[in-house]
Amino acid sequence: MGKRTISPGGSINGQVELPGDKSISHRYAIISALAEGTSEISNYAAAADCQSTLACLRQLGVKIENSDSAVRVFGKGLDGIQEPRRVLDAENSGSTMRMLAGVLAGQPFSTTITGDDSLRRRPMRRIMDPLRQMGARIEGSEGDQAPLRIRGGKLHAIDYTPPVPSAQVKSAILFAGLYADGVTTVRESVCTRDHTELALREFGADVECSRGIARIHPRPKLTARKLTVPSDLSTAVFLIGATLVLPDSSLMLNNVGLNPTRARVLDFLVSGGAHIRVPSLQSRDGELAGAVSVTHSPLEGGTISGAQVAEMIDELPMLAALGPYTEKGIEIHDAKELRVKESDRIAALAEGLRQMGAQVEEFPDGIRVEGRSAGKLRGAKADPHADHRVAMALAVAALGADGETTIRDAECVTVSFPEFFTTLERLRGVEQH
Ligand code: S3P
Repeated sequence: MGKRTISPGGSINGQVELPGDKSISHRYAIISALAEGTSEISNYAAAADCQSTLACLRQLGVKIENSDSAVRVFGKGLDGIQEPRRVLDAENSGSTMRMLAGVLAGQPFSTTITGDDSLRRRPMRRIMDPLRQMGARIEGSEGDQAPLRIRGGKLHAIDYTPPVPSAQVKSAILFAGLYADGVTTVRESVCTRDHTELALREFGADVECSRGIARIHPRPKLTARKLTVPSDLSTAVFLIGATLVLPDSSLMLNNVGLNPTRARVLDFLVSGGAHIRVPSLQSRDGELAGAVSVTHSPLEGGTISGAQVAEMIDELPMLAALGPYTEKGIEIHDAKELRVKESDRIAALAEGLRQMGAQVEEFPDGIRVEGRSAGKLRGAKADPHADHRVAMALAVAALGADGETTIRDAECVTVSFPEFFTTLERLRGVEQH
């Protein structure tokens, strides 16, 4: 794909059903591998990250058939996965590496798991510390980075409060807790996404979760399931953003995952004036999903800080890029985590938005992007720093700019939403080239 040019203007209209949620897809695949029997997962994410999880599971001896978004996983049971012959490669996927580390910690063999340049720079001490406390031996490179060499074995239950709220860390501990000698507890000051707890329960595990405390009882009988993954709200948010940027736009997104631990972004937008409605809501396989309708509307903007950050962590790039389209601008604090995502998202967004003429202030833990009064954006050459969410956020900001924007290395969007550009252009009625 190389670079991608966005011409501004037009409007978004129509209906869309997006690919499956990335977070839920990873969990369904991993738990299916540990269950007894054959699980069938529909609407499995097209995201490259979720294909990385399938590839790692295959190397652990799990038979998996997949065609398009239908995935069939032949479960091996809790003790059935096998020592891989080669190093596992999680590529760009932090979820794959961190969550699988929890499973690998409970295995009677050693595994090495690595990733691409970006993932090898990301912090892994956050999973190494609790898994070591449980009894696994884990060595990283240069202290706390991948590749990780994990020597699993008998694990002890722990009661752990992660220093940084992270659903990946919580999930790694809960997965290791499947193999522990007692009840494992994770306490969080901010409730992060609870897909692991909900999915484990669907497969038959004994999991308690309430008010920031998740507990897992060891060695459950996990039984294969037929499951459907709802569409990814964190992906949908870029099309919602595009609809809010372009006048005369209106979009209906069907079957979107609306788990309350993920849907805060909609509350934030609605409280700032966005016309967003959820005309239908159902529960399926323990997860909420529904239709989301959005109409172009003036946005107030505002500040995001504290607990809101963990609740909207993946949506912050989009919200920052909406800053120039709001009355008051967007200001984000307490979000140091953004600096250790697929890129340093604060720096990458600040650079890209400044190149487009936005007025941006960077803080160690956040960013301020001035609102409409700072002037209209102009087309530019933007570098997403190989980060899918930065690329999509800058592309949406470009829709309302004066002149064309070129997004460099635009193929990075395949990490979460391979069809992003084609879907956006189809909904705008722009001819593909
Ligand atoms: C995820 C949790 C979040 C999020 C990531 C997916 C998950 O990461 O940013 O895209 O599926 O659990 P952290 O747990 O590092 O906050």
